[in-house]
Formats: sequence, structure tokens, C-alpha cells
Amino acid sequence: MKASKFLKAAGVTTAFVAIVAAGMVTSSRHVKAHDDDDEGNESRIQRGFEIAPVPLDLVGKNRHLVGLGSYIVNAVADCNGCHSAGPPTEFAMGGNPYLRSPFFTGKEVINPATYLGGGRDFGPIGSAAHVISRNLTPTRPEG
Ligand code: HEC
Repeated sequence: MKASKFLKAAGVTTAFVAIVAAGMVTSSRHVKAHDDDDEGNESRIQRGFEIAPVPLDLVGKNRHLVGLGSYIVNAVADCNGCHSAGPPTEFAMGGNPYLRSPFFTGKEVINPATYLGGGRDFGPIGSAAHVISRNLTPTRPEG
């Protein structure tokens, strides 16, 4: 009685582990195939180039990584939303979606002059210094 219960439990556990393991193997194969496959990212790379608010420097760089990076920075993570000084200067004339018509023309346009330039004040930490987003451009004072 006890032995058969144990065997049944062991059988159920084995089946469960097998299903999980099979799932892991098939899904990791899928992820690997997808990552290795530039075709899968080509539309993101293309979109990254289309939405970059500033000309992208490709000299000596991998075109796919630059395009995909632009896609992540501009379409996915909105780095500029924090790494610019805030809505009044973040957008170009007519392209500020925080304003109403006629000041907003209906198409959001990033201001290339402040793009990723940092300077947004997130307020003080206790009574200490304020948290300010950093300048991420190649012209940053730190070089
Ligand atoms: C929610 C707001 C926010 C977003 C979104 C954001 N950042 Fe930041 N980031 C900050 C703040 C604030 C700091 C400065 C933190 C500090 O001074 O300790 C910072 C710091 C950094 C730094 C360090 C710079 C240095 O000089 O050490 C880098 C690099 C950085 N961010 C890159 C990015 C990138 C790339 C993205 C998009 C993928 C991004 N950040 C998105 C708020 C943000």
C-alpha cells in the first residue's frame, strides 16, 4: 500500500519534471534561434533608424547593434524621457504632446538640441543633494 502510493507519487513527479524540462529545452532553443536570427530583429533595427531624433554615427560600428540600440533607447525604454531636462525643452517647436492645438501640431517631435542631454531634477534625497539625470551624449563634460 505504502509502496504503491510512493511509486504513484514518484511517477507523477517524474512526469512533471519531464514536462518542465522539455519546455525549457524547446523554449531555450526557440530563444537561441530567434537571437541568432537577424531577420527576427530586422524590423526593430529598421524602426530604430527611422525614429532616431539625431543622425547616428555608424563609422566603425555594427549597423545592426546601432539600429537595435536606437530601438531600445527610443521605442522601448524612453531614456530621453528622463535624460533630458523635462517637457518644456524635451520637444521641438510644435511637437510637444503636453500642449494643445495649435501649439501641438499632432506629431510628437523630440528636440535634437536637448536629446539625452540630462539635467532633469528628480528632487532631493532627504536633505541632501538632488538627483539629476546624467548627460548621456558624447559631448558630455566628462568626455
Ligand atoms: C526614470 C528615469 C530614467 C530613465 C527612464 C532612464 N534613466 Fe538613466 N539615469 C536616471 C537618473 C536620475 C540617473 C542619475 C542617477 C545618479 O546620479 O545617481 C541616471 C543615470 C544613468 C547613467 C549613468 C551616467 C553616469 O554618468 O554615470 C547612464 C549610463 C544611464 N542613466 C543610461 C540610461 C539609459 C541607456 C536609459 C534607457 C535605456 C536610461 N538611462 C533611462 C534616470 C533615468
